[in-house]
Amino acid sequence: MKAVIVLFISMLFLGCNDDTSKSVQSVVDSAPESVQKVIAQTHESVKKTVTTTQQSVQKAVEQAPAKANEVIASAQQSVTSAVASVKEQVATLSASEGKTLFAKCASCHGANAEKKALGKSAVIAGLSVATLESDLKAYKAGKLDKNGMGALMKSQTAALSDAQISELAKYINSL
Ligand code: HEC
Repeated sequence: MKAVIVLFISMLFLGCNDDTSKSVQSVVDSAPESVQKVIAQTHESVKKTVTTTQQSVQKAVEQAPAKANEVIASAQQSVTSAVASVKEQVATLSASEGKTLFAKCASCHGANAEKKALGKSAVIAGLSVATLESDLKAYKAGKLDKNGMGALMKSQTAALSDAQISELAKYINSL
């Protein structure tokens, strides 16, 4: 331990050099008892400081994973709730888009899709989403004509995108 103090002192006052360390060592060894005591006390307080620092570093290191987990958990939570709110908004928007698009169909098929359009179509309320989608796509492509009015339904569906057809189908199915 003495050697450490000597090194410490030699570094502080004389620079880090073996020869000087040795000469300081001999100075320390031959120093009066009172000086040795001061050195010992200095060493003791340095040791204490190092120990305290080590302890707080250790504590910080030990607490780090818990803190990190806490941060991760709260980040995950906010991401989850953000995703949930986006999903909710998308669902609301989709539903309202289906409803909006159906407004022009309602004049023939009824506000609740409960009518036989112009007395020529089936009642479309209650049809599955898949059937509605494939019928609408087929009308749009000009490939469906159930009762001689396929051309009329072609013009009704001409401007609809696949996504809009899907929203319409979901909306009609929900009526
Ligand atoms: C001007 C009246 C009219 C409007 C508006 C109209 N339809 Fe039609 N719809 C018909 C007629 C008539 C038929 C029968 C077509 C045929 O002969 O295949 C039909 C057929 C259908 C069918 C197939 C039903 C069956 O008989 O199996 C679906 C689905 C449908 N329409 C959905 C819609 C949707 C969705 C809209 C709005 C984008 C819409 N229609 C707008 C008159 C209309």
